[in-house]
Amino acid sequence: MPDLIERTLVLLKPDAVERGIVGNIITRFENVGLKIVGMKMVWVDKAFSKKHYSEHVAKAFYRSLEEFIISGPVVAIAVEGIHAVEVVRKMTGSTEPRQALPGTIRGDFAHHSYAYADNKGTAVKNIIHASDTSENAKKEVALWFTDKEIHTYKTVHEKHVF
Ligand code: CDP
Ligand code: MG
Repeated sequence: MPDLIERTLVLLKPDAVERGIVGNIITRFENVGLKIVGMKMVWVDKAFSKKHYSEHVAKAFYRSLEEFIISGPVVAIAVEGIHAVEVVRKMTGSTEPRQALPGTIRGDFAHHSYAYADNKGTAVKNIIHASDTSENAKKEVALWFTDKEIHTYKTVHEKHVF
């Protein structure tokens, strides 16, 4: 990949899949010219959740986060583009949908809050996961996708947008 072109991991969490907004969210990434280089539906188990969320395993909210992420299938997407990690996080919005700005995925598709989640003993239902740093993005794409599952092809954006 040329300089400044990165790959990042997006997960459309079980709430997004069950609400039928997967296509809507994928369209947003396509609209800005980001390139889908890998995509699959996966129903993860507890062991895989602990690998993906290794930085959170010891935290108080992990139990409900795990329960949430294994509650149904997720759509995993490897997204490629210029500064893809930063751009996808910007499009994702703040972790708490209550605070996430309109225009972001979390702000436009959810309004759940930490307080409400705590009262109900659930995770914050916030639609999407996006890698937070370039280093974590590399690890997460490698955890979710084999080399064979990452595809090389040319989009028109590489001619007109990049
Ligand atoms: O997903 P993001 O990187 O924005 O947030 P995080 O701090 O890495 O937390 C991972 C996920 O755990 C969040 O997306 C929430 O679904 C969940 N979480 C939660 O349920 N309650 C918290 N107090 C913090 C996070
Ligand atoms: Mg995170």
